[in-house]
Amino acid sequence: MDGFLPGSRASLMLDVVFLAMFLVLPILGWSIAQVRRGRYELHKRVQLVLGGVLLIAVTAFEIDMRFFTDWDALAQASAYYRSGVYAALYVHLVFAVTTALLWMGVIGAAWRRFPRPAAPAAHSKTHRFWGWMAAVDMALTAITGWIFYYLAFWA
Ligand code: HEM
Repeated sequence: MDGFLPGSRASLMLDVVFLAMFLVLPILGWSIAQVRRGRYELHKRVQLVLGGVLLIAVTAFEIDMRFFTDWDALAQASAYYRSGVYAALYVHLVFAVTTALLWMGVIGAAWRRFPRPAAPAAHSKTHRFWGWMAAVDMALTAITGWIFYYLAFWA
């Protein structure tokens, strides 16, 4: 299905994910700001919902890219098709794959090792380190994804 962003050749799903990342990063930042103020349960709920929504979105996105959308055909009109589109995609994929793994690991460990209701515990130090890694990796996934989208479907 065709996308809706003016001037872009991308599919509907690519447009949705492109825009959704402009929501995910502020929500993630807000959730981290909340936990730093001691609102642990709020942070937990936001992160679980964010993780769940992203899992559904990534699954729908993968199905669309593998079976329905020939993104390569849409990207061929780009001035960067032969010089940058694939490089940008591979850089993006490194961040996307490590982010998915980090999020599953961080959520799984937090789920098992924090008390209920969520509160600081022996797991705090490890979680703070890997939580920041997961958050920064997500930001880099979004930024490299936007660059790829621009080079492939807008330029
Ligand atoms: C991918 C999902 C998650 C990310 C990216 C994440 C990220 C973070 C970050 C960056 C901090 C440190 C904030 C700071 O002090 O600088 C933090 C703290 C915390 N998070 Fe998460 N978090 C996630 C999921 C969860 C879940 C599922 C739980 C609960 C089951 C949880 C419970 C906590 C708690 C209790 C703290 C406070 C630790 C302390 O300072 O003692 N987080 N999180």
